[in-house]
Parts: sequence; C-alpha cells; structure tokens
Amino acid sequence: MQDRFALIVTAIICLTVTVAFAYTENQSTRGEQVFSVKCAKCHGNDGHGGQVPDGYDGYTGMKAPPVAGPGALPHMDTAQNVYTFVKNHMPIQDPGSLGKEDTLDIVAFDLKANNIAQPDKKPLTFKDLPSIKIHGGS
Ligand code: HEC
Repeated sequence: MQDRFALIVTAIICLTVTVAFAYTENQSTRGEQVFSVKCAKCHGNDGHGGQVPDGYDGYTGMKAPPVAGPGALPHMDTAQNVYTFVKNHMPIQDPGSLGKEDTLDIVAFDLKANNIAQPDKKPLTFKDLPSIKIHGGS
C-alpha cells in the first residue's frame, strides 16, 4: 500500500516536472546544427552513438555513447548533468570550447531527440535544467 502511494506521488511529481518547462523549435534546431558540426563525427549523424574515428590522437577507437535513441545518455540523470558534462568535457578533443547558449541549445536538441518534451513557445532556461529528468536509455 505504501509502495503504491509512493508510486502515485512520484507520478504526480513527474507530471508536474513535465509541464513545468519547455524549449522552442529554434533552440532545438540550433542545437541540432551545432551537434551535426561538432559532435556527429563521433556520436553519429543521428546521435545513436559510434566510435571515435581516425585523426583524434589518443581518443581514436573509443566508444562514443548514444545521445539520442535507444540507450541514450546512459550516465546522465538530469538535463543539468548533460549541460555540465557537455560544457566541461565535450567535444572530447577540445573541451570547454562550447559557449553557454550553444550548450543549452544542444540540451534542447537532446530533449527533442529523446522525446522528453515537445517544442513550445516557452524557451528552455538554465534554471530549468536541474528539474528535468533524463530517462536514461529510453
Ligand atoms: C572526437 C570524438 C567526440 C566528439 C567530437 C564529441 N564526443 Fe561526446 N563523447 C565521446 C566519447 C569517446 C565519450 C565517452 C567518454 C568516456 O567514456 O569517458 C563521449 C561522451 C559524451 C556524453 C556522455 C553520455 C553519457 O551518458 O555517458 C555526452 C552527453 C556527449 N559525449 C555529448 C557530446 C556533444 C554534445 C558533443 C559535441 C559538442 C560531443 N559529445 C562531441 C567522443 C566525442
């Protein structure tokens, strides 16, 4: 019975979180463009993951995990984790090179690509990030 209650409370919290944020079509489109230029070589054009190709000394052959689709973002719990990881560690050969807005747009693209939220009029903001759950591997 208590488990059931916990489940219902969790469901309500999830629903609340789902409606509390959004992103614009512009943000996700920009994010997709940055992704295709700066990330797709390793993570695949569709974001389904891949292997670091030749020409990336020290990283070549490493597995680049999927960021969209099945098994996406395996180590990320929230959109804040994605933002911080990408901002500080990606692209792997040039970490720290992405601007804040570009990184936020990439997060918007991830939300779209993983069906976590649909585009709307309300833009995604930095404040939203900690409350957005990434359903790792959906
Ligand atoms: C040169 C290849 C390369 C490029 C370019 C690159 N990545 Fe990565 N990425 C990797 C590798 C390899 C890993 C795994 C790192 C590890 O295992 O420590 C990774 C891990 C990640 C993860 C962690 C996913 C998880 O849950 O574990 C995210 C998110 C990510 N990359 C996003 C990006 C984004 C966004 C870009 C473009 C701005 C990008 N990457 C560019 C190779 C790359």
